[in-house]
Amino acid sequence: MYLKTIHLRQFRNYQDQKVNFNAAKTILVGNNAQGKSNLLEAVELLATLRSHRMARDRDLVQEGEAIAQIHATLERDTGTSDLCLTLRRQGRRSVALNGESLRRQMDFLGVLNAVQFSSLDLDLVRGGPEGRRHWLDTLLIQLEPVYAHILQQYHQVLRQRNAFFKKKLETLHTASLQSELALWDAQLATAGTRVIRRRDRAIQRLAPIATAWHASISGSTEILQVKYSPNIPLEHNNLEEVQAAFLTKIQQRSVAELHQGTTLVGPHRDEIELTINQTPARQYGSQGQQRTLVLALKLAELQLIEEVVGEPPILLLDDVLAELDPSRQNQLLDAIQDRFQTLITTTHLSSFDSQWLKSSQILAVNLGEISSPDELY
Ligand SMILES: Nc1ncnc2c1ncn2[C@@H]1O[C@H](COP(=O)(O)OP(=O)(O)OP(=O)(O)O)[C@@H](O)[C@H]1O
Ligand SMILES: [Mg+2]
Repeated sequence: MYLKTIHLRQFRNYQDQKVNFNAAKTILVGNNAQGKSNLLEAVELLATLRSHRMARDRDLVQEGEAIAQIHATLERDTGTSDLCLTLRRQGRRSVALNGESLRRQMDFLGVLNAVQFSSLDLDLVRGGPEGRRHWLDTLLIQLEPVYAHILQQYHQVLRQRNAFFKKKLETLHTASLQSELALWDAQLATAGTRVIRRRDRAIQRLAPIATAWHASISGSTEILQVKYSPNIPLEHNNLEEVQAAFLTKIQQRSVAELHQGTTLVGPHRDEIELTINQTPARQYGSQGQQRTLVLALKLAELQLIEEVVGEPPILLLDDVLAELDPSRQNQLLDAIQDRFQTLITTTHLSSFDSQWLKSSQILAVNLGEISSPDELY
């Protein structure tokens, strides 16, 4: 797939900026705080309706404005699509595809696919499980957009069950408390099982690809394992069995849940284990080794999305190329070649291979304005 144009209005530090992409690779060059990452964030939002910076909509809308708009034209094998996302300082976002507004955000997901790789991704190795769950969920949303709905349903039940604990605990008689709680348990298990099964399937597909990439980049001396470690014991990915295991675990933890007044069981407590040579990657590696791991994960994402969707997704490289040593840079560049449209941000063009620079479109980013350097002379 190929992103032809993007038009940002009142988005972050962009007042009204149109960009036409005209090569397989576009390098966005500029000093710090000019708007390079903001542009990649806009593409990421179109792909996932999420920002890995965890920004709220009101942070995305330009200061002093009420509405922001991201408008893009995308070429796919199936034809050209016109995507539009409207963000509001107050109120809900809205999405439109080919000029028609969509009621369900789910129908917007899956039109544009992108893999984002920034220095924040190092937190996948160093940070807590929440970041890894968020990463896996964002990938799943692109692999199967219905997952966005499934995840939302789970979080809704989780919120309601937690609110029930908070409000009802003192006021309810034990017997009626138990029967109402049983209803919430059943709903949590049903919604949670959907999440667990899909996460499990995604990791099963992703893990061998990531391991292979990692072996190739690290020269086979290190073995990466990516393992889904669900909060609910998972022996088989069978609907009834997972649901039963879910309910059993709720029962086991019921005293603790009542005591702590919150839900302690379910996929909001899942972990995705990353180990190198059987050692947790967090403890194992040097910074360079951790970077290699994240690079392997990103290449695996790229490949898996391509396999599932049937077209190469867009790759967003935010300031990471310069952080990789030359051999890993080349591994990455060899892997993407010209097959994946790639948007790259950097503060210095000097870190790039000259061959590369020649075949790339270069855009200068300066205080929320984008220009071709030729236009500057
Ligand atoms: N809602 C907003 N309204 C106006 N300006 C904003 C808004 N959100 C962010 N900015 C501005 O955008 C700029 C940061 O842009 P961005 O993160 O894209 O920088 P960058 O070019 O990637 O820099 P770096 O090289 O440091 O990564 C900051 O100056 C920030 O104040
Ligand atoms: Mg940046």
